[in-house]
Amino acid sequence: MTVVPNDDRFQPINLFEYEKLAKQYLSQMTLDYYSSGAWDEITLRDNRIAFERIKLRPRILVDVSDRHLNTSILGQPLQLPLLIAPMAFQCLAHPDGEIATASAAASAGVGMVLSTMATKNIEEVASACEQFPDSLCWFQLYIHKDRGLTRALVEKAYKAGYKALCLTVDAPVLGQREKDRRNEFALPQDLHLANLATISGLDISHEKGESGLFTYFAQQLNSAVTWRDLEWLQSISPLPLVLKGILRSDDALQAVEYGAKAIIVSNHGGRQLDGAIASLDALDEIVLAVNGRVEVLLDGGIRRGTDILKALALGAKAVLIGRPILWGLAVAGQVGVSHVISLLQDELNLAMALTGCAKLEDIDPSLLMFPRL
Ligand code: GLV
Repeated sequence: MTVVPNDDRFQPINLFEYEKLAKQYLSQMTLDYYSSGAWDEITLRDNRIAFERIKLRPRILVDVSDRHLNTSILGQPLQLPLLIAPMAFQCLAHPDGEIATASAAASAGVGMVLSTMATKNIEEVASACEQFPDSLCWFQLYIHKDRGLTRALVEKAYKAGYKALCLTVDAPVLGQREKDRRNEFALPQDLHLANLATISGLDISHEKGESGLFTYFAQQLNSAVTWRDLEWLQSISPLPLVLKGILRSDDALQAVEYGAKAIIVSNHGGRQLDGAIASLDALDEIVLAVNGRVEVLLDGGIRRGTDILKALALGAKAVLIGRPILWGLAVAGQVGVSHVISLLQDELNLAMALTGCAKLEDIDPSLLMFPRL
């Protein structure tokens, strides 16, 4: 697949190469915003290290000539156990922004979670997926101080056909990403919070100052949200609730108790609490605790097909990827996102063959070896 226009010298063949190439396409402020973790970026690094530490124990002499990578999440089919994580301001990477991402996801049969902080609106992103009736599109929600605004967002998502509400629960306030602070992160004049600006005129600052997103969170988001608010959220829409940002089994059990239908084990790509454990290190305990009552997904550090295989072996039903999608988007819009997805798909397919797994159900914990302490 040719993804880099007018350049037959360098076509990325893995997600790390996409990251390197994307740097040529992004402003320093955008690159820093997308790539940063909080404070010393310990958690950002740990998300990768956690995958690298676990080794594989391949099973041999298994018929893997016919392989299947398809699954389902909340009853909806996926061609691959993969969703695109919610990420803000995708028009900073490419003018087609979230529309390109959603189109690539829907045509590959993977899921997409649209961010509250999107630069394209809920309806136009939904219509990009219309020709794929099975497309799995969820809406990610931040609960604002203004309940009316939050309700309006939820209603818009429901009316437009989003299949679940994905509430981010690890961001009562925004983590401190020091490069954004240094850069005085602001949106260019022509980009807006497409949904919030339409409903209530809210926007991220276009002026230099403190990081515009940090200020927005402090001013507009409700940091008093607790478990009880999930009842309210479930009363205003019939959409199933997915909680994103859980790292402990007691919280996972509360999520089940309060009616969540799926949980995403995540530390927000290392962008919130620095020093928080790697998502992968939290997975085992959470899968054990919920014991099949909700579907468990994971994000944070997935860069290879073998990473997906490791997460599935530890009990995740699917994984989400974030930053590599932005790199694909920056390099070649929808074509770049499709290519990033297909690279991961090919790698997972190969990793399954080499570990003796013909289908996802064959991936089990016996494939893993943990480091000796
Ligand atoms: C927004 O949620 C961010 O992590 O920047």
